[in-house]
Amino acid sequence: MTATPARRDLSADESRRASRGWWDQDADEYQAEHGAFLGDVDLCWCPEGLREADASLLGPVEGKRVLEVGCGAASSSRWLATQGASAVALDLSGGMLRHAAAGGQRSRVTVPLVQADALALPFASASFDIAFTAFGAVPFVDDSATVMREVFRVLRPGGRWVFSATHPMRWVFLDDPGSDGLVAVHSYFDRRPYVEFADSGEATYLEQHRTLGDRIRELVGAGFVLDDLVEPEWPEGHEQVWGQWSPLRGRLFPGTAIFRAHKPS
Ligand SMILES: C[S@@+](CC[C@H](N)C(=O)[O-])C[C@H]1O[C@@H](n2cnc3c(N)ncnc32)[C@H](O)[C@@H]1O
Repeated sequence: MTATPARRDLSADESRRASRGWWDQDADEYQAEHGAFLGDVDLCWCPEGLREADASLLGPVEGKRVLEVGCGAASSSRWLATQGASAVALDLSGGMLRHAAAGGQRSRVTVPLVQADALALPFASASFDIAFTAFGAVPFVDDSATVMREVFRVLRPGGRWVFSATHPMRWVFLDDPGSDGLVAVHSYFDRRPYVEFADSGEATYLEQHRTLGDRIRELVGAGFVLDDLVEPEWPEGHEQVWGQWSPLRGRLFPGTAIFRAHKPS
């Protein structure tokens, strides 16, 4: 892979191909690198280490039908199952879902796993009380407004939707945890995705950039009411680097945005 990522327009097809290929091929590496931090049975919202056990962003979950969108190894859904929720874990990537199945065997906490695209959720309308994701799907699809509409559809009236994603202001900087990542080099208003390429020039990884206003407009446009926007602070003593998330940058500006919204009753 070339070492020069760029901000580049991609077609919906290129975006989908890169995302699907990346998450299948990278699943082993992702879990080897981050699995211990995420835990087998735990809901961690972000590299800052904010955990649902402390944050309660989903509200009471006991007896609730919960959908995780872009579950990766599904440790979050397993944690919710231990809290009495009836959780379903969905992901596009078969590689990630293999890790989800293995995590279920290791921990002896299992949840239903579904392979599907967040852009077309294979569930009846109003079938969940809560939907959520920690960095799943939303930052990787070119049409996140459709994800918002799909989640809105599958939630019952009054249902809650919480998702974390890279904080939009991060895309002003290079994808670098060190001091080179402290200098603003991109326009906040440049909506082109961050793309990594193979030597052939084919896109192999991408992350979409939306401004805070874009994200709020997509939520409200789907029919949601926004209840909170959480910007987790970098905790004192937390030294773990995760990709471009580092204590150096985390002490200066936010790395994660967590949107908490609900479908009106
Ligand atoms: C950064 S990982 C996060 C995984 C997990 N939530 C975690 O905290 O480890 C992003 C996940 O989103 C999934 N994903 C990407 N695009 C998707 C889509 N269109 N529909 C469903 N899942 C998708 C990937 O396969 C991957 O598992």
